[in-house]
Order: sequence, then structure tokens, then C-alpha cells
Amino acid sequence: MHQPIMLQAVVDGLRVRPGGCYVDATCGSGGHARAVAEALQGQGWLVVLDRDRNALERTIARLDGCGVDVVAIHSAFAEVEAVLQAEKINSVDGMLFDIGVSSEQLDTPERGFSFRFDAPLDMRMDRSAGISAAEWLQAVAEDELVRVLRRYGEEPRARAVAAGIVRAAAAGQMATTGELVAVVEKVVGRRGRIHPATRTFQAIRMAVNDEIGQLRRGLAAGLKILNPGGRMAVITFHSGEDRIVKHFFREHEGRDEALAQGGSRWCGELPRGRRVNRRALVAGDAECAANPRARSAKLRIFEKAAKGD
Ligand SMILES: C[S@@+](CC[C@H](N)C(=O)[O-])C[C@H]1O[C@@H](n2cnc3c(N)ncnc32)[C@H](O)[C@@H]1O
Repeated sequence: MHQPIMLQAVVDGLRVRPGGCYVDATCGSGGHARAVAEALQGQGWLVVLDRDRNALERTIARLDGCGVDVVAIHSAFAEVEAVLQAEKINSVDGMLFDIGVSSEQLDTPERGFSFRFDAPLDMRMDRSAGISAAEWLQAVAEDELVRVLRRYGEEPRARAVAAGIVRAAAAGQMATTGELVAVVEKVVGRRGRIHPATRTFQAIRMAVNDEIGQLRRGLAAGLKILNPGGRMAVITFHSGEDRIVKHFFREHEGRDEALAQGGSRWCGELPRGRRVNRRALVAGDAECAANPRARSAKLRIFEKAAKGD
């Protein structure tokens, strides 16, 4: 079962209040969602969203008997504003994004997310939409693949790995995770503790699911539908994603710039708000020891300005 990261910090950071309406935009296995539901103490609404149908079903089961009204929506969070409006929900008091893949996705061989199993190369979080990683690799231009491996995977041998993948795809040998692992191992070799295919798998998964595009659109939509004084909590596991969240929050916090004629003017993006913590929160030693996934997690929390601020 997926272990929710920084559970108490998330519930405290969202300042869950009984009677409110909260959204878990990446419900996964429902660990955070269950804790938010409990903090609602039988009063309020919880909307759970995931682009993976299996995740949604696990969460619905986990929320059974939680005592609050639950709305479960199968959707990517970039569409959160529209899908909530369709449920007649125009604004919410808090929203959580716990970005990335779940342990269940990684541990289910046929999902194709892991280099630990030989399985069809799928990697889609939503298996009812888009194209699989195998289809994407069949069509991608080599230069674009180099860019993806560098930007999302920080793969130092990006050019050689991309050339190997494109060659294998042209020969009809890029349909399974095992075939992808074989290409990477041939190019990169097998040294050190980290599996050589880790970076490549992460990069391709992020491209296939448009994870960066989703994050940018999800943050903007989420902030828009937050009530004044409402909070947004975002957990990331990738430095590029954390940077996007950090800049997004900074831009919406804005800054006062001095004017030549005296006084100052606020500059920034609307809607306005404030970072609840200047620095990202990280998991403590005990949590990292119990759950190695927690080691790379960063939690940032933002509060939308109250009316009149
Ligand atoms: C790290 S897990 C979340 C775990 C969850 N917080 C828990 O306590 O079990 C990430 C989940 O986000 C979902 N996800 C990732 N990107 C998404 C997106 N753009 N829209 C909706 N769900 C997304 C994945 O399918 C996965 O189930």
C-alpha cells in the first residue's frame, strides 16, 4: 500500500476545517484523502480526483464510512476547474497535489512503469487516453528524445541513449520494458547502486503523461478556484517540478517595488497570496527510514489572500 508522505504536515498545512470543501487532486491510494476526511470530523465535502481509475477505486474503498460527503472524479487535474463546475462546485477551501507515480503503479508490472519487471511499455497513468510509451518512442524525433532525457531525467548520456532507443524502435524492438532496459544497459553500463534505467524511465514517463504541462495548468486552475484564505499544498519528487512550484508561488506572492517618486507598488501575478513556509518542508529522518520514497519529497504550501488583502 502506498505510504502517504508527510501526512500530518499536509493536514496541518491545509488547515482543514470541519464544514469546508477540500480537493485531493491526486488521491492515489487515499492515504492523504482519508486523513483529510477524518480532520473534517463528519462535516464537509471531500473531492477526490485521479487520472488513474484503479487509484480512484482504491480511494473510494478507503473512504468508506469516513462520515463526510465524497465526490470521486476520474480526471487529470489540469481540468480540475471544469470537472468541479460540472459537479456544481465553484470554489474550494483547500487542495492537495501529491505529484508523480504511486507505489501501486510502480509495483504493477503490466502498467509498464518499472524496469524491475518485463512487461508491455505502457506508462500511461490514464489507460483510457493518450498513447503508450512504446507508441510515443516509435514516433518521437531523436532530438526531442534527447531533450526529454536531459530535462526530465538529467541523463548525462542522453544523446547515446536516445540514439540507441530510436534504433531499437526502428527495428521493432521497443515494445517492452525489458527491451528499453536492455538498450540503456548497453549504452550506460551497470555501475553503482542506482539502476542505470532509472533516469530514462522517469523522463519517458513524464513526457508520456505530460506531467510538467499538467502541473503548470493544475496549479493555475487550483489557485483560481481556491476561496480567499484557502490553501494549496503541493508535494513533488523531482527538482524540476519543485522549481516550477516554487516560482509559481513566488510570482503569486509578488513583491513591493520602490517607485522613483516615492512609495512602492506591488508587482506579481494575480490572484495574490503568500507562501506559508519560505522553504520547502521535507520529511524527517524517521519517515525517510521507514519510507525511502520520502527522501526526495518537497512540500510547499500557499495561502490565497483573504478578501481585502
Ligand atoms: C504519489 S501518488 C498519490 C498518493 C496519495 N496522496 C496517497 O496518499 O495515496 C500520485 C497519484 O497522482 C496521480 N496523478 C499524477 N498526475 C496526475 C494528474 N495530472 N491528474 C490526476 N492525477 C494524477 C497518479 O495517478 C497517482 O495515483
